[in-house]
Amino acid sequence: MLRKEVNELLTQTGPETPMGRMFRQYWIPALLADELPEDDCPPVRVKLLSERLLAFRDSKGRYGLIDEFCAHRGVSLWFGRNEKGGIRCAYHGWKYDVEGNCMEVPSEPEESGFCDKIKLTAYPLVKIGDILWTYMGPKESRPDLPEWEFATVPPEQTFTSKRWQECNWLQAMEGGIDSSHVSWLHSGALNDDPLFKGARGNKYNQQDKRPVFEVVEWDGGLFIGARRNAEDGQYYWRITPWVMPSFTMVPPRGDHPMHGHFWIPIDDENCWAWSFDYHPVRAITPEERQAMKDGYGVHNKYVPGTYRPLQNKDNDYLMDREAQKRGETYSGVWGIAMQDASLQESMGPIVDRTKENLVSTDNGIIMARHRLRKAVKAFTDKGVTPPGVDPAHQKVRSAAVVLPKEDAFIDKCKDDLSVRPGVKQSSV
Ligand code: FES
Ligand SMILES: [Fe+2]
Repeated sequence: MLRKEVNELLTQTGPETPMGRMFRQYWIPALLADELPEDDCPPVRVKLLSERLLAFRDSKGRYGLIDEFCAHRGVSLWFGRNEKGGIRCAYHGWKYDVEGNCMEVPSEPEESGFCDKIKLTAYPLVKIGDILWTYMGPKESRPDLPEWEFATVPPEQTFTSKRWQECNWLQAMEGGIDSSHVSWLHSGALNDDPLFKGARGNKYNQQDKRPVFEVVEWDGGLFIGARRNAEDGQYYWRITPWVMPSFTMVPPRGDHPMHGHFWIPIDDENCWAWSFDYHPVRAITPEERQAMKDGYGVHNKYVPGTYRPLQNKDNDYLMDREAQKRGETYSGVWGIAMQDASLQESMGPIVDRTKENLVSTDNGIIMARHRLRKAVKAFTDKGVTPPGVDPAHQKVRSAAVVLPKEDAFIDKCKDDLSVRPGVKQSSV
């Protein structure tokens, strides 16, 4: 349970909020590179951390993320013309470059210098992997570019999707930390999802529904270990890294690609659930890639032409009570991503954490909230750079291993939990 003020502190990420200022210390995913496929292509409206922005790619292939609204009289530049190195407002023709500089005010004489005084807010937009990343903080604290493994392996080894989730980022992210729900909510998927099925570890998940959690702090965030009984006096460990502020990686299953998420605030009542799959040492097969596009694994199907899931709150997520009765899905909702999203959205746009009753399987969530609070305080009071900004903190992997009962995962799995280029993930 959290006090009301703490719930507000952790869930509000607008420009002047403590959490919002901390979020602006990180490179965060802004849009898929495919959304700006070529020079001078149509611009894209992007809302992030409660700011309304416009992304575009100019005639020279430069990416920009600028204020959505024209400095003249506030028209949306989304209606503008993307041409000859800038975007021109459709109303009276003011023109801006990717850095938000005003290039032209056609009504004013050039020698007046009027145009030089006009500048829109602008943030960098950089392509790494399948994603265009932005940094929305002050220039002087701009960190090195992100080095997440999924975004830096060759393109044939990785796949990224995003979906709009209609709730606050924190409750979505807490679902990514809480692996105890897998034995319940996703139990059907372990048998039939092409991106999950067949792994030896699945049976431990299904046989032991009382995982014991051990959460260990490290520089970048937490390692959340969930152990279940395996044969011969051993434990099956699933270890989820959480890197601040909102990166989680699901422990792998067999040789399936590994996957994880970023939970990025759109505003306080909506977020982007970014989902990626990658394999550290091999290409994703055509069958796997097709399954990802078809919405299996951590991905989903869409309302055509949008990033809104096809199953959404307006159609009760296409709830199928018969499938629930037959045991094909535990909740009646199809697909892992929407099983999670449906329940997280059902909590309301910002869940009231003053009313919850937490238990020991929520330890990961409790500690993550604690880490976030501590980091916000250190950053706000003393300007301390928060964990996860340093690319060294991004070089983690999840792992699924079987260990003798007496072994502590954190001692035995140091290598398994680190990025080792060219070395396969540790997975059963
Ligand atoms: S409002 Fe954009 S040019 Fe007038
Ligand atoms: Fe889940």
